[in-house]
Amino acid sequence: NTPTPYTALFRRPPVLMPAEQGVDDTGPYQHYRLTQKVGQAAIVPGLLTTLAGYNGIFPGPTIKVPQGTRSEVRISNTLGVSPLHGGKYSTVTHLHGSASLPQYDGYANDQTAPGCCKTYKYPNWQQARTLWYHDHNHGTTAQNVFAGLAAQYHLSDRYERAQLPQGEYDVPLVVSDMAFKADGSVAFEDADHAGFMGDVVLVNGVPWPKMTVKPRVYRFRVLVGSISRSYRFALSTGDPVYVVGTDAGMTPVVNAVASWRHGVAERYEVLIDFRKYKAGQKIELKNLSNKNNVDFANTGKVMQFEVVADSGAPDPYVIPKTLDLGPQPWANRGAIEVNKLTPEMAKVRRTLRVQRKSGLWTVNGETWADVEKSNFQRILGNPKPYDIEIWDLVNESGGWFHPLHIHLIDARIIARNTTPDRKAHAWESGGKDVFYLGENETVSALMQFTTGDGNTGGRYMTHCHNLVHEDSDMMIQFAVGDLNA
Ligand code: C2O
Ligand code: CU
Repeated sequence: NTPTPYTALFRRPPVLMPAEQGVDDTGPYQHYRLTQKVGQAAIVPGLLTTLAGYNGIFPGPTIKVPQGTRSEVRISNTLGVSPLHGGKYSTVTHLHGSASLPQYDGYANDQTAPGCCKTYKYPNWQQARTLWYHDHNHGTTAQNVFAGLAAQYHLSDRYERAQLPQGEYDVPLVVSDMAFKADGSVAFEDADHAGFMGDVVLVNGVPWPKMTVKPRVYRFRVLVGSISRSYRFALSTGDPVYVVGTDAGMTPVVNAVASWRHGVAERYEVLIDFRKYKAGQKIELKNLSNKNNVDFANTGKVMQFEVVADSGAPDPYVIPKTLDLGPQPWANRGAIEVNKLTPEMAKVRRTLRVQRKSGLWTVNGETWADVEKSNFQRILGNPKPYDIEIWDLVNESGGWFHPLHIHLIDARIIARNTTPDRKAHAWESGGKDVFYLGENETVSALMQFTTGDGNTGGRYMTHCHNLVHEDSDMMIQFAVGDLNA
């Protein structure tokens, strides 16, 4: 009894309402409450699957905050013992894509034990973007996310609201893959720290859903929330999608692509123009698959759209060729819009080599165990706030791919060794914080360590976002400004 593709109905995660909102001396704020708890979901026909999610659901509720409104999220851990790893369900929450203060960044060893809670504060000064919050507990991140601890977070601003579809036509898609036992419980397996590849593809927690769409332009905020799998998304019609956003928000130029490669934790916002299809037409979002993944019977399918007649006036939206991202909020301190950074501005160039050594995943030969042994003093580098650097990310691990994530920063990909022109892929043309390192690939990332108001720096992690690799033990750190801030 595995689910049948395109039978279950598409749904959007609920939007979380603030428990409190207002304005104080420093400006507007929104306070939220989340409880990490066990819940049940109907995924496999006729059975219930026990999950552990934010408010007991997977994906967790979407948080929506306008730029300039600070948010506080109080997260209570009521989870107890994890059936997946048998230990205590300690949790850490990271808001991925946020330039958070170090003490709220979800540092892997800053754990909340069952029965406890932590209030995370987020500045939200950055330009509009799709972020996500997920577990980051050292050693069990893969199991905790697999159990359900992941959700989207949308930061909006007036430039984004004026240029991209909103409301009903602005759709979050959390794509993941899972596997289930005969009784419907989740089956997590990881042989040799390689990774996890499930045979069931879910969108917003629903296996291969079908979604009815009007003949209009829709914006999809696509997040791969898988443990290890990467995807190559494409429409069954062969029609292009229009890439309007990457990890760090809107892209300055809108690129039409026939397919795009999408690793864990990357966010791509794409427009799909359903105006050209007839009512009743069915269009599939497919996964053409990438090298180094494990494919099953239906992992080439993702979801299905069915166009329905629209009684309203035709959608007048014009797909933009370029987008105006608005001003960089900290320009007065020397912050530069990520898409306007040039290599000449960089003071320092570093190389990060990804290698496999005696069963462990390492970066420059080091692991998080080395960081722990140093009492968290060991760092890759120590840029000052607003410094600009180039990091060459080199995959020397042979036969594996890695979605490498750098906390805090937005970067621009200035070179790739594998494309014909040595440039970023067309879909990667905006700000990034996760870098797809395919087999033998090298990516050069140009970044600025923009910290924001009141953030003098501290420690930030860099790791593989294949969560099995991260857990064993492919994570290091850098410090901005004061290491022990
Ligand atoms: Cu999405 Cu360090 O994490
Ligand atoms: Cu990896």
